[in-house]
Amino acid sequence: MIVLGCDHGGLKIKNAIIDYLKNSKIEYKDFGCYSADSVDYPHYAFAVANAVAKQEAQFGILCCSTGLGMAIAANKVDGVRAVTLADEFSAQKTREHNNANVLCLGGKIVDDAKAVKLASIFLNTQFEGGRHERRVDMISQIEEGKAV
Ligand code: RB5
Repeated sequence: MIVLGCDHGGLKIKNAIIDYLKNSKIEYKDFGCYSADSVDYPHYAFAVANAVAKQEAQFGILCCSTGLGMAIAANKVDGVRAVTLADEFSAQKTREHNNANVLCLGGKIVDDAKAVKLASIFLNTQFEGGRHERRVDMISQIEEGKAV
């Protein structure tokens, strides 16, 4: 299960990603927004981040104009590792090394085709574990208020 959210700045690329998920027969839930009317991105970031943290979805995808505010907001939820990126190498490496679970994209940064490409890499790349698991565990310890 993939959960998605966007604001007005990310609506177009979110819809392109949803078309890709439909064509790939990947189950998804869209938390909105659904129109180009101006809305506040933290609301959608929280809905998606919360669903991922509660393990109601394996991954989240958040789209705004830059992907930046969405990531800042989503990362306030414990257990969420949200990343903003715009290149294929980062999409691959953040799954392999960081076990990122929320992808944030910017509608003023990437076009529809690039957004779909980045989402497909992110969703289809496995976490490598090993030494990277230790480091991701250290991030969880920071959430618990422990020094690392
Ligand atoms: C909305 O104008 C814009 O601030 C938002 O889409 C996002 O880019 C915030 O980080």
